[in-house]
Amino acid sequence: SQTIQTVSEIIARHAHLEGPLLPMLHDIQAELGHIPETAVPELAAALNIGRAEVHGVISFYHDFRKSPAGKHVVKVCRAEACQAVGANALSDRALALLGGDWHGKTAGGVTIEPVYCLGLCACGPAVMVDGQLEGRVDTARFDEILKEVGA
Ligand code: FES
Repeated sequence: SQTIQTVSEIIARHAHLEGPLLPMLHDIQAELGHIPETAVPELAAALNIGRAEVHGVISFYHDFRKSPAGKHVVKVCRAEACQAVGANALSDRALALLGGDWHGKTAGGVTIEPVYCLGLCACGPAVMVDGQLEGRVDTARFDEILKEVGA
């Protein structure tokens, strides 16, 4: 399939590197929008490691998505500076919409993901909506954002 071919090309491109798994995963997500399950055995075989190890790395880094993103992507900063000014309330709201699990989409088909610092620490809580940064997002503004994207 096209997916497998893309994955094979990416594997070949990075095969010479010392620690090739992360660059491979980054490129796969950049080109396919997520890490498809079919990529896991390909990566494991190419790198001579177990599938569980590949899965472990994908799960460890919050940036990797296991399924395609929804119609909109909202990222909520969960790092310390934002937490200190109330970002946990945003996470709680997001998790309620996601059914308690960060992986997946809301009923309206919106992806909400945790992120660890958006570089807007002085203006937290910070949120990113389809690539656009927004600071000082209180719960009222967060609800507005979620309504705007149809979460
Ligand atoms: Fe949230 Fe840096 S801690 S933007």
